[in-house]
Amino acid sequence: MNSDVIVKTVNLKKYYEIRSKYLKRVIGYVKAVNGVDLEIKRGETLGLVGESGSGKTTLGLVLAKLVKPTDGKYFLKGIDITYSLPKNLRGKIRIVFQDPYSALNPRLKIVDTLIEPLLAQGVDKENAKEKVAKYLKLVGLSEEYLESYPHMLSGGQRQRIMIARALVTEPEFVILDEPTSMLDVSTQAQIIELLKKIKNEKNLTYLFITHNLAVARYLSDTIAIMFSGQIVEIADKKTIFSNPLHPYTKTLLSAYPSPDPSSTWSPEIPEDIDNNTLIYNQGCSYAGRCPLRKDLCLKTSPELIEVENNHKVRCHIYKDRT
Ligand SMILES: Nc1ncnc2c1ncn2[C@@H]1O[C@H](COP(=O)(O)OP(=O)(O)OP(=O)(O)O)[C@@H](O)[C@H]1O
Ligand SMILES: [Mg+2]
Repeated sequence: MNSDVIVKTVNLKKYYEIRSKYLKRVIGYVKAVNGVDLEIKRGETLGLVGESGSGKTTLGLVLAKLVKPTDGKYFLKGIDITYSLPKNLRGKIRIVFQDPYSALNPRLKIVDTLIEPLLAQGVDKENAKEKVAKYLKLVGLSEEYLESYPHMLSGGQRQRIMIARALVTEPEFVILDEPTSMLDVSTQAQIIELLKKIKNEKNLTYLFITHNLAVARYLSDTIAIMFSGQIVEIADKKTIFSNPLHPYTKTLLSAYPSPDPSSTWSPEIPEDIDNNTLIYNQGCSYAGRCPLRKDLCLKTSPELIEVENNHKVRCHIYKDRT
């Protein structure tokens, strides 16, 4: 394994069971994460973009070790951590969630919220307090907030606390699940700048989950487009914006103002288009919506193939281009 690669997944899957209403028998599965192969290098920010329900949070939860995968492999720094996490890697993977309002326990003082992950790791109270003060400063808050309760803080301040809480254990890999989407626009910008600054200072590796293409473009080195539990396209951000290949990526980007007026995407949608992607269980998960689909797309699921250097796409159209 390339020593630069800090996070690697191989065919990672998370299926949720669907049970019948009365007998509670398993009648199917939601394939929330359905075979994800990823490599994230140390110091890289991977932006994960995709529509609601595409599996971004589920992938984040699996990578944060908060949800067990159904299948596949997960490596951190070359160590297989799919089903366990060695003691020396505890605290090395942390997650920041979208909602700083419900994430904080309203009954706990900020100091107790921040100190808790350190005490759980066995750090003694004096050292833990010192560290907490240091990280509070890092996220731009003064020590007076330590004795505050969550209701005394604004949304932006709460998210700063959640970032500090994620960072106190000195992680190497941080998953950020839409960390700014519940904040007002000017606060969003401040938090994004803060995350960028901290990443550079601490040489962190980020998985940044977002709906917002502008934010993904600003923060990421690489962008992965997720659809229906799978990565359908991945490349460095410049390539994704200048040469999107997957029909879904093109559709996503067509809603995003492009500096190149010639790159408009307005394909004809076939008349028999079917929005219910689930019925095409065998073929490409995007076939139901794809304006370019061929018979093959209904029969066989495409692999993620590298069509040019470090630019991978999961689409039959590009099969002959490799
Ligand atoms: N605990 C669960 N039990 C059953 N199904 C779930 C569970 N959590 C998520 N799902 C389903 O898995 C799929 C992926 O959900 P997920 O929350 O990962 O998507 P997302 O890309 O994060 O969406 P959003 O952009 O809205 O946050 C959805 O169909 C969702 O309904
Ligand atoms: Mg989500």
